[in-house]
Amino acid sequence: MRLKTAELVNVCQHRKLKLDFPLGVTGVFGPNGSGKSNLVKMIKANLTGDFTVNPGNKEENIRRGAPESAPSYILGEWQHEGTDFELVRSLRPNKNTLTISGQSPISKAGEITDVVEGLLSLPKRIINEFVFVDQWSIFAFMSTQPADRAKLFSHLCNTDRAEVLWKTLGDQATQDQELAATFIDNSDEIRHRRKERLAKVKELKTKLAKEKTHILKKAEGRKLKEEIEIYKRLEFLKERRDARKVDLHNATAQAATAEERFKEVDDSLSKARKKWPKLSAEAENVKYQLSEIQKVKKLHDRVKTLKASITAAEPSPPTPVADYVEPAELHERQRAIQAEIDEIASVMALLESGQSAECPLCGGTIKNPEAQLKALRKRTTLRIQEAAKLATRVGPCLEYFAKRESWIRDKTVYLSRKQSAEEELAQLGDVPAVPDEEKLKQALRQYEAQADLMNALEEGHRVRQNKLNTLIAKKEVVQRELDELDTELGTLEQSLVTEKTAKLAQKKLNQHREARVAVEGLRRTVEEWEAFVEEDDEALDRIEVLKERTTSARKWLEDMERWRSVVHRDALPRLVAQHMLEELEDKINETLAEFDGPFRVTSDEDLTFLAHKPNGVVEPAARLSGGEKVVLALAFRFAVNSLFAGEIGMMVLDEPTAGLDEHNIGCLTDVLERLSDLTKKRGQQLIIITHDHRLERVFDNVIRLEKAA
Ligand SMILES: Nc1ncnc2c1ncn2[C@@H]1O[C@H](COP(=O)(O)OP(=O)(O)OP(=O)(O)O)[C@@H](O)[C@H]1O
Ligand SMILES: [Mg+2]
Repeated sequence: MRLKTAELVNVCQHRKLKLDFPLGVTGVFGPNGSGKSNLVKMIKANLTGDFTVNPGNKEENIRRGAPESAPSYILGEWQHEGTDFELVRSLRPNKNTLTISGQSPISKAGEITDVVEGLLSLPKRIINEFVFVDQWSIFAFMSTQPADRAKLFSHLCNTDRAEVLWKTLGDQATQDQELAATFIDNSDEIRHRRKERLAKVKELKTKLAKEKTHILKKAEGRKLKEEIEIYKRLEFLKERRDARKVDLHNATAQAATAEERFKEVDDSLSKARKKWPKLSAEAENVKYQLSEIQKVKKLHDRVKTLKASITAAEPSPPTPVADYVEPAELHERQRAIQAEIDEIASVMALLESGQSAECPLCGGTIKNPEAQLKALRKRTTLRIQEAAKLATRVGPCLEYFAKRESWIRDKTVYLSRKQSAEEELAQLGDVPAVPDEEKLKQALRQYEAQADLMNALEEGHRVRQNKLNTLIAKKEVVQRELDELDTELGTLEQSLVTEKTAKLAQKKLNQHREARVAVEGLRRTVEEWEAFVEEDDEALDRIEVLKERTTSARKWLEDMERWRSVVHRDALPRLVAQHMLEELEDKINETLAEFDGPFRVTSDEDLTFLAHKPNGVVEPAARLSGGEKVVLALAFRFAVNSLFAGEIGMMVLDEPTAGLDEHNIGCLTDVLERLSDLTKKRGQQLIIITHDHRLERVFDNVIRLEKAA
């Protein structure tokens, strides 16, 4: 595998970084925090889709401070065994695209992972731990538990699969043994039962054939049904004809009676109708006379009223009051007295003032004013008394005056009424006497009774007429029906169907129906029994198959046990592991020799290394110095990568020089120098992140990262 280019846009601290990775050894330099480790982590995530390389969630790898809408992605152009493919892992918007050259792009994350794994044919764990070696993880495997290291080695050698196979085969064998044990051969019993069931089928089929003989053909059944129907119809028609004959007899009798009654009424009505014009003229005359009587009666009433007006008493005059004075005169007297009083009052006022000695009444000289005043006071008193006396007369005089006026009016009316009554009476002359009204009324009542009788006759005539018509119509209907019945009976009687033939037809039909039900039931029963026989056949077949299977299963079990023993961890897997371990040891020791052979190692299957120092000291690798451990870890990783990921041909080491002394760095430089030619020749890539510039001279390609501002 080869990484051709990597492009990081808004990923971790990288705003936009596009890098080419040629073959050979590439060194990546940069100050702390410049994004070296993030660069290789994101390249790894681009290949595996696994962003857990950095703590936190996937989106936390989007460059802090990048605009909200800015895209964030890692684009890797890869090549493996001649196939170019481009992988884009986009953090924002969240999507993935794999484009294998010449094929349509794939965008489902799961599918991409499967296709990439299939393409590289390498387990994810090897890519994670032996292709991309994280910072500080170079000798991490040495400090894990022996059991975990054993698992890792088993995984590297694929012998863990043999373990799974051994277990699966074991489970299968147990199952097959259980299956074989449950098999019981009861074929004799089933065969006996099958024979009995076959006999039952035969018996049922015989019954079925017998029943079928009663089943009629369609045309035959139809004909029999027709015969029965004709017979039923004949019986019905005969019964109906008898009933209708009785109906006709009754209807004829009723119509004759109705006709007689109608004639009677008709005669009476004709007679009455003849008399009717005369009667009716008489009645009109009586009505006229009765109306004339009313007029004469009114005249008599009028004469009576007029005579009453003439003979009525004349209104009598009112009784006159004593000392009656006409109201006008009374009024005049009162006015004169008041004028005199007023005049006396003015003279008295003059006298009392003493302004004049001349009498205003007579013009003479007033000699004794005191005496004059006295006389005037006396006169005034007399006049006031006179006025009071006059006032007592006003009421009775006015009352009499009103009564007298009323009497004069009444008398005028009386006289004019009497005169006009006398004139009208004279005009009316002699009024005729009132004729005998009761006699006329009686004649009218007799006429009305005659009219009622006439109406009753008319109504009776109409009723009888209707009844007669109805009965005649009924008779005709019955007659028509009788004619129709006779015609249909005549036709049906030609078919020669008798009671005997109809009964025979019914019997055959009943047998047919019963047979059909029986045949249906028998067929079902036959099918059921045949199904039982079939079940027995199947059971027998199954037993045969099981018998064969049990035989081959036993053979299979024997074979399986043999195969299983091969994949047992102490058999083939152990051989493979030992072989791989030998190869691994050789490779590690080859690399260690490159480092001037500070020690060589032997190892167990749990990858517990023993260091054999040149001075003969043998000690566990865990007791080596930090630098020695780094040397061993590098040798181990080169060996594992070349043995188990040789096809991939790529390794990324993040700061492998940490902890190495001058000498060992020199050795690593020599190793890398030789590896440089080899990797280029083999078309491989080694990417190393380091702070150590002494390594720079061996790098074929150098990438320098700056710390973001
Ligand atoms: N999403 C991000 N945006 C910006 N910076 C980030 C983001 N994620 C991580 N960083 C920064 O990346 C830095 C670590 O980068 P990295 O580990 O790649 O450095 P380095 O170059 O490998 O340094 P060293 O030489 O110390 O190993 C940290 O300072 C961290 O804050
Ligand atoms: Mg780092």
